[in-house]
Amino acid sequence: PPNGMAKTPPMGWNSWNLFESRIDDKTVREIADAMVTSGMRDAGYVYVNIDDTWEGVRDAQGNLGSNKKFPDMKALADYVHSKGLKFGIYSSPGPRTCAEYPGSYGYEDQDARTFAAWGVDYLKYDWCGARMTFSVEDLQAVYQKMGDALLKSGRPIVYSLCEYGNGHVETWGTKVGANLWRTTGDIHEPWTSMIGNITKQIPTAPFAGPGHWNDPDMLEIGNHHMSDDEDRTQMSLWALTAAPLLAGNDIRLMPASTRAILMNAEVIAVDQDALGQQAVPIKSGGLDMWVKPLADGSVAVGMVNMGATEATAEIKANELGLGTQVKSARDLWNHTSVAFHNGAYLAKVPSHGVLMLRVSGERQM
Ligand code: DGJ
Repeated sequence: PPNGMAKTPPMGWNSWNLFESRIDDKTVREIADAMVTSGMRDAGYVYVNIDDTWEGVRDAQGNLGSNKKFPDMKALADYVHSKGLKFGIYSSPGPRTCAEYPGSYGYEDQDARTFAAWGVDYLKYDWCGARMTFSVEDLQAVYQKMGDALLKSGRPIVYSLCEYGNGHVETWGTKVGANLWRTTGDIHEPWTSMIGNITKQIPTAPFAGPGHWNDPDMLEIGNHHMSDDEDRTQMSLWALTAAPLLAGNDIRLMPASTRAILMNAEVIAVDQDALGQQAVPIKSGGLDMWVKPLADGSVAVGMVNMGATEATAEIKANELGLGTQVKSARDLWNHTSVAFHNGAYLAKVPSHGVLMLRVSGERQM
């Protein structure tokens, strides 16, 4: 897209999954502080994004203000920037947002200018409040409107579409100036929701690449519904599929186990790989095998145990498009080098857990 942004999938935090409407200025500042002290910022999570329920009323000139939970958006953005972080906000192409706050309908240029003046670096633009006004046929046009408005604002702003995969957004998202677009309905904390979302976005894989990403929704890691094994699986699948990594937990209160999952640098590197290819499962049924070619010629592979009991995964080098001669392999969760024997590697994987390797070898052409 013309804004030239998001060469790798965006990383940061978003208020919705945990806080929904219980988000305010004070909490966002505390989260921003915690993004720095926890190491999240330095691990790459730079966007601090406020979702729905910040909006106030329009003044006589039509300028949109924030509500009493957010007394001064410009001051809040300045605070977030002072921490070396970036600031994200939310609106809707309809007259109202999903939560019934004012949307940008009819004020697209003006709102884009307001966001730019506040110092907004990321806009999530959410469809559901527009359903009354528009039909799915209008999706592309209304998203184009804000895409153009953001460009005209003169500030580089990552443009994130939230239309739940309606209208084959992956085929036109880039045209309307978007950097990422939702491919699914809302994620919820349970394992089944997380797996449902990542499964739904498999057919969109050919449309992902630097600057334009498919978005299976945010992370539920650390929100206590999934086990640590399941959290590791979400992190692995999001990284393999080059999904945006937007944490959705309370960064102020992260246990060590959650930190280790969200800040696993070797897994983050797979997500942020310059090639930007979205993994697809090449085998499924019990142990699903997801394969992602990487820019340096190596391959990331995830074996996800969908079953209810421990299982033994076997990874064969020739299934990865590598010759039988594996040069080196890393277990990205154990942080150890591992050895292939006769072109294969075997390991036990707990129920709903994942084995994730990065393997380099002779590339088979
Ligand atoms: C629906 C979106 O999919 C969610 O991520 C969140 O933004 C809510 N709307 C907010 O109303």
